Amino acid sequence: MSVPPVIPPVPAPSRRTARVAPFLAMDVLSAARAKARQGADIMHMEIGQPSAPTPRRPLEAARAAMASGQIGYTEALGLPSLRERIARSYQDLYGVSVDAEQVIITTGSSGGFMLAFLAAFETGARIACACPGYPAYRNIFNALEMETVDIPVGAANGGWSMTAAAIAAVSRLRPLDGVLVMSPSNPTGVIARPDELAAIGALCREQGLWLISDEIYHGLHYGAPASTALATTPDAIVVNSFSKYYCMTGWRIGWLVVPQALVRPIERLAQSLFISTPFLSQVAAEAAFDAIDELEAVRAGYARNRDIVLNALADLGLETAPADGAFYAYVDVSRHAADSMEFCRRFLDEAGVAITPGLDFDPHRGAHFARFSFAGSQETCVEGMARLKTFLATASLRA
Ligand SMILES: Cc1ncc(COP(=O)(O)O)c(C=O)c1O
Repeated sequence: MSVPPVIPPVPAPSRRTARVAPFLAMDVLSAARAKARQGADIMHMEIGQPSAPTPRRPLEAARAAMASGQIGYTEALGLPSLRERIARSYQDLYGVSVDAEQVIITTGSSGGFMLAFLAAFETGARIACACPGYPAYRNIFNALEMETVDIPVGAANGGWSMTAAAIAAVSRLRPLDGVLVMSPSNPTGVIARPDELAAIGALCREQGLWLISDEIYHGLHYGAPASTALATTPDAIVVNSFSKYYCMTGWRIGWLVVPQALVRPIERLAQSLFISTPFLSQVAAEAAFDAIDELEAVRAGYARNRDIVLNALADLGLETAPADGAFYAYVDVSRHAADSMEFCRRFLDEAGVAITPGLDFDPHRGAHFARFSFAGSQETCVEGMARLKTFLATASLRA
């Protein structure tokens, strides 16, 4: 008689992973792509990704580098020429002096967060973030056993920007270890006023907190540009990327600007966590600084899309956050649905338009909101808004 084999139990995933929530925008993208595979004509307004291709100059630079066949590791902190080029851009764009030594090349800004958070904070650290905000902050902090301290922003909270006063009030209740600001913001597009950014920097200095500034949407503004935190807070940690303005999401390349004291600790972390950022992406990124004409044409397209989307939303009586920059409209849909998850699900199923539910960005009040991305083509924006009008007029939504 044969004895059935004993199958040893599979070890369980760590409890840490259970604290990391799914990214609903990615889940919506999968659902929308599955529908498209079945032949549905889907308008993608869910994902924060430029529809324009990588500009010509970076493509050419990467092709030339690839032809050499020499594609190896680089220094853990990045190619010196790229670090220098980025440092120079701070003088050109903001009149701020940055030493190339302070610039660290990372695997997208996502890789930069890991390095910055690990270098700046201990386990259990408490970091203030605007809510709604970019969901990965909370997820990375959870994975690293750090805590997100939500600072609610919005029409009902005196404005869409996080203020020094609101942060000070929270830190009086229980001390903080850091503040993470993001301007322009995802999902609201709000650009922080330079004086408010300076006030937050001053508060951080006074209380000995790290200020981390996510500047990934810099370059994408439709009025006054965003200012860098480094202009008033030279010891801020700045996180940036080639993903958005430079249309290079898939190259997975970004950078940090950090105070001198963090350079060596981050180098030690980067050596072991990543060894280096992909060589070809670094070569392409350096050439992206020579592609500004092409990139400004892309930005002009977003500006046209923004007008189409904001005008249509206003005509439909839907309120949005200011959308000063980035490529998002964060919309209050509570008049039409008690739960924006359900609203988004039905909008996709019945009208074929994919948008992102607000719960991705705000676990408290996100059920009232949805995010529309206007990073796609003009046709997508026009058709998406036409379908929204019909959907609101014909679907039996909340009475
Ligand atoms: C505010 C913000 N920061 C960071 C990222 C991550 O970008 P990446 O890792 O591609 O640089 C995103 C992506 O959508 C974002 O919206």
